[in-house]
Amino acid sequence: MRPNVYITRRIPDSTLEKISEVCQVEMWEEEDVPVPRDVLEEKIENIDGLFCLLTETIDEELLQKAKQLKVISNMAVGYNNIDVAAATEKGIFVTNTPGVLTETTADLTFALLMATARRIVEASDFLREGSWKTWSPMLLTGQDIYGATLGIIGMGRIGESLAKRAKGFDMRILYHNRSRKEEAEKTWGIEFADLDSLLRESDFVCVMTPYTEETRNLIGDRELSLMKKSAILINTARGGIVNEAALYEALKQNKIWAAGLDVFEQEPVDPDHPLLTLPNVVTLPHIGSASIQTRTRMAELAAANLIQGVMGETPQNRVNH
Ligand code: DGY
Repeated sequence: MRPNVYITRRIPDSTLEKISEVCQVEMWEEEDVPVPRDVLEEKIENIDGLFCLLTETIDEELLQKAKQLKVISNMAVGYNNIDVAAATEKGIFVTNTPGVLTETTADLTFALLMATARRIVEASDFLREGSWKTWSPMLLTGQDIYGATLGIIGMGRIGESLAKRAKGFDMRILYHNRSRKEEAEKTWGIEFADLDSLLRESDFVCVMTPYTEETRNLIGDRELSLMKKSAILINTARGGIVNEAALYEALKQNKIWAAGLDVFEQEPVDPDHPLLTLPNVVTLPHIGSASIQTRTRMAELAAANLIQGVMGETPQNRVNH
């Protein structure tokens, strides 16, 4: 009997074919609509493997319905959408897709940093709406990137790749992390700092840490108040790490200079969200890893993890044991 798997969104055909060679596959076919909860509740009962995205909440209540589930393969490096403890309790592997999206996500983070610092989106809109009357000394002036101090919160793979890019801009790089990264310190000349010092000294603060109980609202009113008035906050990790109400106030009251956000507490973010009304906020719809090559690699890795799990092997990228 071939194992039954459910895929919660349309994935590249080549990846689907690989899974179909060994599994009985059912897939939620809609491109832009997440699988409804009631469908997932029904499907999870009789499947051996689940291929899901960060748009699905895999909580304890849902997992209670699973009778034979062996593996939950998340097509993302982050897995805060899954109750890992509940899955572990039931002997279900949870897997993610680390490594393959590192460089692409670092690229986007640096692009967002640059776009925010140099007001690229605002400047482009300014031109298109016919507001450009003449070259003017202080028109649309932004912040310098080269030579500035970059503070990276969370020195994982992506943090390190960001540091590599920042090196090319002659930036001083501070980082805050649960543990010291001595190898990376030597390689990239980065300096460990406690969170408050990093916030006080940085011109750019990039949030690159996983979203956990510990990091929920890590950046709130107090932390934003420590930052320079000229500083820029960039978040390409998870929305809930930064308190959005506090960020809105800090930006509105010019306690910090600007923010670049690829992620939000609720996604998709409401187009009427207060943060979206501010000219000094550059926003993106969670596209950190969105290159064709990387999304294809992520799908392939998620498929490999899924197949290993349903075939009784230990998946290569399990996050629980
Ligand atoms: C992840 O993988 O966790 C990103 O947020 C989506 O690529």
